Amino acid sequence: MERNGQQTEQGRKGKFIALEGIDGSGKSTQLRLLADRLEKENVDYHMTMEPTEAPIGAMLRQILRGKMKADNRVIAALFAADRLDHLLNEENGIAAKVENGTTVITDRYYFSSYAYHSVDMPMEWVIQVNEQSARILRPTVTVFIDVDPDTAMERILRNREQQELYEKRSRLEAVRKKYLEAFDRLKEVERVVLVDGNGSLEQTAEAVWKEVAGFL
Ligand code: ADP
Ligand code: TYD
Repeated sequence: MERNGQQTEQGRKGKFIALEGIDGSGKSTQLRLLADRLEKENVDYHMTMEPTEAPIGAMLRQILRGKMKADNRVIAALFAADRLDHLLNEENGIAAKVENGTTVITDRYYFSSYAYHSVDMPMEWVIQVNEQSARILRPTVTVFIDVDPDTAMERILRNREQQELYEKRSRLEAVRKKYLEAFDRLKEVERVVLVDGNGSLEQTAEAVWKEVAGFL
């Protein structure tokens, strides 16, 4: 059973749940609601996100806000490096946490790279750059919060002062298509579920929980 990276000694390792979606899909909100739910259910969990708050993640945020410039290939490689640090960092690396029985929930993981960077680079290359991460830790399940790009854009414009690099409507649409392409491409090796995120917070949270609960 090499399916999800939690193969042997099932039950002893923690689960690894990745939330994915375009900007404005409500991932961050849903991650918090999922954390509340895990808390209630007495699950030992750790909540995290990418880009991380560590130095490579901080550099990426500078780039996303337009305060620093870098070639697209460099940005993709930095996200891959940030992800490896997220996994392997001696202080709080999530690979060790999962190994030790903690359930880790993350706002974004490698499918974000596959989707966002393959808009202007070959997806195959992006997958290769992230190969180590996939070897180290595959999500137990990736939950894609699917939202219409118009709805996502409305939410972003309503609620944010500053648009980040990737938050343009046409970009969101292109990224959503790339997510779907990546899910299809990797359907033999990844477990992905799609959740409708166009409804209310509560409806989406219930749908996310329904999908996640089965894996805990
Ligand atoms: P993401 O992390 O995917 O970019 P957020 O969770 O930050 O998305 O949500 C973007 C904005 O939309 C936030 O201001 C949030 O309060 C709002 N929002 C999230 N989910 C919903 C929803 N189901 N209905 C209406 N507004 C929402
Ligand atoms: P995020 O913090 O989720 O954005 P927000 O807080 O605005 O919802 O992610 C920041 C941006 O980084 C987002 O536009 C997606 C992009 N991104 C990539 O391009 N590649 C990646 O590998 C990851 C993890 C994120």
